[in-house]
Amino acid sequence: MIVDHPAAKKVVPPPRREGHVLSDAVRAKIVAEATNYPQARSALLAALHLAQAEYGWISPPVVREIAELLGLKPIQVQEVVSFYPMFHSRPKGRCHIQVCTNIACAVAGARKLVRQVEDSLGIRVGETTPDGAFSLVEVECLGSCGSAPVVQVNHDPYIERACAEDIAAILRGERVERQSPMISVIPEGVDGYLLPPNGVTRTEIADYLAVGGYEQARRAWCELDPDAITEMVKESGLRGRGGAGFVTGVKWGFMPKNPDKPSYLAVNGDESEPGTFKDRQILERNPHQFIEGALIAGRAIRAVAAYVYLRGEYTVPYLRLMHAIEQAYARGFLGDNVFGSGRSFHMFVQRGAGAYICGEETGMIESMEGKKGQPRKRPPFPAAYGLWGYPTTVNNLETLTHVPVILRHGPTWFRQHGTERSTGNTLFGVSGHVKHPGVYELPLGTPLREIIEKYAGGMANGRPPKAIIPGGVSMPVLTAEHLDTPMDHESLQRVGSLLGTAGIVVLDDSACPVRAAGVIARFFRHESCGQCTQCREGTGFLYKLLKRLDSGRGTMADLRTIEDVCGYMEGQTICALSDAAAWAAGNFLRRFRADFEAHVAQRGCPFPDSFEM
Ligand SMILES: Cc1cc2nc3c(=O)[nH]c(=O)nc-3n(C[C@H](O)[C@H](O)[C@H](O)COP(=O)(O)O)c2cc1C
Ligand code: SF4
Ligand code: FES
Repeated sequence: MIVDHPAAKKVVPPPRREGHVLSDAVRAKIVAEATNYPQARSALLAALHLAQAEYGWISPPVVREIAELLGLKPIQVQEVVSFYPMFHSRPKGRCHIQVCTNIACAVAGARKLVRQVEDSLGIRVGETTPDGAFSLVEVECLGSCGSAPVVQVNHDPYIERACAEDIAAILRGERVERQSPMISVIPEGVDGYLLPPNGVTRTEIADYLAVGGYEQARRAWCELDPDAITEMVKESGLRGRGGAGFVTGVKWGFMPKNPDKPSYLAVNGDESEPGTFKDRQILERNPHQFIEGALIAGRAIRAVAAYVYLRGEYTVPYLRLMHAIEQAYARGFLGDNVFGSGRSFHMFVQRGAGAYICGEETGMIESMEGKKGQPRKRPPFPAAYGLWGYPTTVNNLETLTHVPVILRHGPTWFRQHGTERSTGNTLFGVSGHVKHPGVYELPLGTPLREIIEKYAGGMANGRPPKAIIPGGVSMPVLTAEHLDTPMDHESLQRVGSLLGTAGIVVLDDSACPVRAAGVIARFFRHESCGQCTQCREGTGFLYKLLKRLDSGRGTMADLRTIEDVCGYMEGQTICALSDAAAWAAGNFLRRFRADFEAHVAQRGCPFPDSFEM
């Protein structure tokens, strides 16, 4: 049975009355946004973004007005405001300076930028100048680790490779713009298909059509049977690029074959794990290929719409994606009669608000429904009970970008890329102490050494690599002795790690492993959603212990406590954030125990040239 357009809910806004503070234009946009969802509440994050852009912060009258517009209780709005770091329930400075201090930015000197702002303005992190002109916060990874250090002012495009002159200009009230100097390339000799040719940005639909774009989506909607598409994707061996590496065709096969209610595709573009900045490259340089992949997936799983969840800080990727979606609607590739097939498929974009846990698939679904992004207990899994309780497939944005080429060239062609069980290319993000940080499209199975030495230009300061995180900071750290490991799921598992998001962070021998573990532990402490005791308490405990070691007050007993805490945190919680935090800290300790012990013996950090925590 063909089901209705999902955006069936019509919202009747309450009339304007005294006490309302939002403009008619913002109220109208909130009401319009609410019609994109079966439940108006799903427009809550968008409403808060709109209100904050107009009003500067989310005041109690704004909370009440939005609650009224969306038919919610004020407390349902307030709890969301307080959950997401991007929403402010107190006024901030007109120039709100956000400095990323996570691992890649820390290594690139972010702490100095923070101090420069503090010293120049006479305020500390978290404070606002008395005249309300400036405020300063430290933020966790901004998804731009290849162009660290990164600063964002208000909601403007990032200032990448930020330097002292940039900070001085910001403080003089100037607008600084330095977008995307990041490298994203297909190295010579590689049969690339995710990124457009080097130096090309293919954001216009005409350019994508000129290379055969949307032809496979047309086939999918007009000629192919949904199950045949799923079979093809299964045969290709494509595995999810969001971190867990689940086989995509198998996941699609869990969706109902004869749906009597709407099914959805939920696209994960939250990309918030430090070391990971690849989905952004797709949106900035090749958004139509992603849309085509989502269209094909939508047909295969018999979905009525795709909802794309994009991290809130991504301003440029958002604008490019919206432009591409508009173009696809204008051509009839999205809408009520997709490719003239008589079937409808819509695409909506929701923006997150700075909470990493919303990348976890059920946390994302909760967030898309306008709630705190707290992961759900499973079962039921999203294929049975997903968005608004309907069958839903969650796929990473890169995963879907592979799909058009699988249909175009066939599964056998696809399997020629990568290894037997880790098929295809992927976008390896490389950051940290390398000469040319960036995103490199390469086959899975490319040795780590080749990625670092050949493509990323080798080590930046002539010092040897010491600690290498292979796939975002959740993944167990490796050492120089693992440099010849092929970067695929099986090989990394054999050396005690995982591929994760293929975001590689390289640290040289100047970097203190305790500080690296500490910065990462701080991240997990900040991002824990707080539902599980082991995670809520354990992440904070690990951070405190690592901080204590760094300060020279650590003891040998603290090392044993770290191991114990990690043991309590693994395999016990609703989602894998707790495991990730334990793997990160536990493996830094396991791999670099001598350095940890030296902190105790020498009563402080024995790495004089290390980055600051
Ligand atoms: C704490 C946490 C954060 C995650 N963040 C992301 C993310 O930002 N993007 C993403 O695609 N997957 C993320 N994942 C994995 C998703 O839960 C999910 O497995 C993935 O989106 C599925 O897509 P795939 O099968 O195409 O990889 C995260 C998982 C956890 C536990
Ligand atoms: S493990 Fe942590 S982040 Fe995941 S649900 Fe539990 S408290 Fe939340
Ligand atoms: S952008 Fe700063 S660590 Fe990723």
